[in-house]
Amino acid sequence: MNRSCIRSRFLCGAALVALAASANAQVSGNAQANGYVQANGNARKGEDVFTTNCGECHSAREGRDKRGPSLYGMVGATAGQKAGFKYSDDLAASGIVWDAENLSRYLANPRALVPGSKMKFDGLANAQERADVIAYIATLGAH
Ligand code: HEC
Repeated sequence: MNRSCIRSRFLCGAALVALAASANAQVSGNAQANGYVQANGNARKGEDVFTTNCGECHSAREGRDKRGPSLYGMVGATAGQKAGFKYSDDLAASGIVWDAENLSRYLANPRALVPGSKMKFDGLANAQERADVIAYIATLGAH
């Protein structure tokens, strides 16, 4: 967590949401057309999407791994690099950076983006739910 986050969790969260929104804005031209990313992710709704679809395997708390790695600080991070978590070889070697577009593609269909991924999740078909959960993850810290 950087210093501004320690001073004010609220300001930090707001800045990160703005960051995620600007990442979305950059790709929104064709992203809107192909349904990958919507610029209007709602972090509060995204927390419910997270609890329902991801919480079984992922924690929002820093360093708390379950079946999947903690998603704290995941927006902006390189895939497959959290120390202490045993990733599939394919994800660890992918070099993917988790910006909003790549997250949306992975969450829509994990094995379409990373064929050997061991995330056993069928995918979130609803683009708005993906945008919402990404906005929520962006409030958990970013690089
Ligand atoms: C059944 C368990 C399970 C569910 C449900 C699940 N995941 Fe995962 N997730 C994993 C596992 C296991 C990995 C590691 C994949 C690998 O190594 O290939 C992973 C990896 C990830 C990664 C990449 C992490 C990194 O360090 O690169 C992200 C991002 C992610 N999941 C987000 C989500 C989100 C968001 C949801 C809900 C919409 C979700 N996952 C649902 C098990 C799950």
